[in-house]
Amino acid sequence: MDFEYYKKLAEAKMGGKRFLHSLMVAEEAENLAKRYHGDIDKAKLAGILHDITKEASLPEQLHLIKKYDIILDDVEKNAKTLLHAITGSAYVFGELKINDTDIKNAIRYHTTGRAGMSLLEKIIFVADFTSAEREYDGVDIMRGLAKQSLEKAMLFGVSFSINDLIRRGMPVHSNAINLYNELVSGKKFTV
Ligand SMILES: [Fe+2]
Ligand SMILES: [Fe+2]
Repeated sequence: MDFEYYKKLAEAKMGGKRFLHSLMVAEEAENLAKRYHGDIDKAKLAGILHDITKEASLPEQLHLIKKYDIILDDVEKNAKTLLHAITGSAYVFGELKINDTDIKNAIRYHTTGRAGMSLLEKIIFVADFTSAEREYDGVDIMRGLAKQSLEKAMLFGVSFSINDLIRRGMPVHSNAINLYNELVSGKKFTV
């Protein structure tokens, strides 16, 4: 897993601001992997690549959807922010040939989360909220929670996202609801 190679690729594929975000997410994912005994190399790699298709054009993203026979549900069809997580995982798995299901899923579910997330999935989900360059109301609370427990930070993050979507009259993907329900009830939901 050549982090420097993929770092250069990420830099070439995205603007400076998004690249900086990706770099900071990789750094934060590394910190979280150290804290919670995750795989540091995988965390860094998933971090630097998690938004790899975020600046790809819609036709490029639809090409990936078609090429990899991905079936989008109604919510995914209408939300560009969800699309990049799906096409990003397809790109990393199919085009970059990074043959690692855990990395693929960490990218696939970094926006919505889902019930039953692996440690790596949790690390990337949280790192995307707590990376050093992030600024939003509540980021300090989220960073504090991330030092206590990944699940506490995830509950704060997924609640923040769901509230924000509802406030803006946007659809909420069932994966996010399932994650929220799992975190508040301790029950497992099948994805
Ligand atoms: Fe993203
Ligand atoms: Fe991101």
